[in-house]
Amino acid sequence: MPPKHHCRRRLRSSHPCCGAHQAAAGCPSQVITPWDVTGGADGKIDYNKLVAQFGCQSIDASLVERIERLTGRPAHPFLKRGIFFAHRDLNELLDAYERGQPFYLYTGRGPSSEALHLGHLVPFMFTKWLQDAFRVPLVIQLTDDEKFLWRGLSVEESRRLARENCKDIIACGFDVARTFVFADFEYVGGAFYRNIARIQRCVPMNQVRGIFGFSTDDNIGKIAFPAIQAAPAFPDSFPHMFGERKDVRCLIPCAIDQDPYFRMTRDCAPRLGHLKTALIESRFFPALQGESGKMSASDQSSAIFVSDTPKQIRSKVNKYAFSGGGDTVEEHREKGANLDVDVSWKWLNFFLEDDARLAQIGEEYGSGRMLTGDVKAELVGVLTEMVERHKAARAAVTDEIVDAFMAVRPMPNLWG
Ligand code: TYM
Ligand code: TRP
Repeated sequence: MPPKHHCRRRLRSSHPCCGAHQAAAGCPSQVITPWDVTGGADGKIDYNKLVAQFGCQSIDASLVERIERLTGRPAHPFLKRGIFFAHRDLNELLDAYERGQPFYLYTGRGPSSEALHLGHLVPFMFTKWLQDAFRVPLVIQLTDDEKFLWRGLSVEESRRLARENCKDIIACGFDVARTFVFADFEYVGGAFYRNIARIQRCVPMNQVRGIFGFSTDDNIGKIAFPAIQAAPAFPDSFPHMFGERKDVRCLIPCAIDQDPYFRMTRDCAPRLGHLKTALIESRFFPALQGESGKMSASDQSSAIFVSDTPKQIRSKVNKYAFSGGGDTVEEHREKGANLDVDVSWKWLNFFLEDDARLAQIGEEYGSGRMLTGDVKAELVGVLTEMVERHKAARAAVTDEIVDAFMAVRPMPNLWG
């Protein structure tokens, strides 16, 4: 099947179609791909436009209520506050769940840095909540091969980073009885590789070029890689968990930058006798400098890492967090802060759990009674507590525990 082009013109740009190339090409200027996140003309990411361009659906209040009803739990703040804002086929997945049909969760990480940053925690924290709320199995893919192919790391270094990142992921609290973490350089083979080959045969070169913007100068590993990220969405890639079953549905929590991979996956699924994977997708946790991009591990000053010290957190927030406050105290008291561009406020929306306190800060800061410094101090408190808690959990993750999560093993109590 040819790629779905949402633009009238075919592009020579290296950016994929479907919402991801330059204004110069006569199309929307925001660029969202797995490798590149840049806001539109006003510097911001227009998430509504993205939903339309990618062809996914918005999450509305009734869907949030449905999840609360089915799980018997109040929705996670990320869901209540619209941070997870888009989905594909989530209602169908929940229908099946209500009928007693099983599903599993799949998410992943491309190990490009020693430690995760706060943006990476977003899908993993949410996945942990989903695993607990629905009591379902989870597979986590560490794409060490991806970072080898894209980042010029050696095979050895990519594998080492995958294992380091695995500790941060385990520290999010996943249940070892239902969670399988695997790194591609280790696990690819057997039933998993057979699915990769099936997917590869489904996808012509011009389709991956359309979706991902590959050019003929890219190494052939990159061109073949999307099939490797697609394969975990099919349950029979994990015979030690699901045997040869094809009727176990898959739900993928991720940020919306990963959507292109799973558009391709969904396109192949029916042709391979598989169910289409469902998705639940988040906004980006913004960089300290503002909303125009996502927090990125390759830019130290844009990011706070789960390994940062309280002092580093305080100094990065105070120094770099973009402020929507007035230029002078007088102006600020008079006009209030522009919450729409204020990074500290946006970060509090992700990580300050207390709804009442959050509303109060919004009120007081927006009206100018609270100053940027006050809000930053509050944020530093929230982040320090969270990062210190994470560090303690990570310190408890031994090599034996990593091996236990990564072992290819019979898993008899996946839904127990
Ligand atoms: P990676 O390592 O770039 O990112 C890991 C996960 O974190 C999300 N993410 C963010 N979420 C919110 N705000 C941010 N600033 C931010 N930056 C990254 C990503 O969307 C992702 O969910 N190719 C993938 C690895 C992968 C994967 C998957 C991801 C393999 N299979 C299945 C999700 C689902 C990658 O390099 O992710
Ligand atoms: N709605 C704003 C935005 O476009 C602010 C915001 C960020 C927000 N995170 C949020 C609002 C979470 C509600 C919930 O980013």
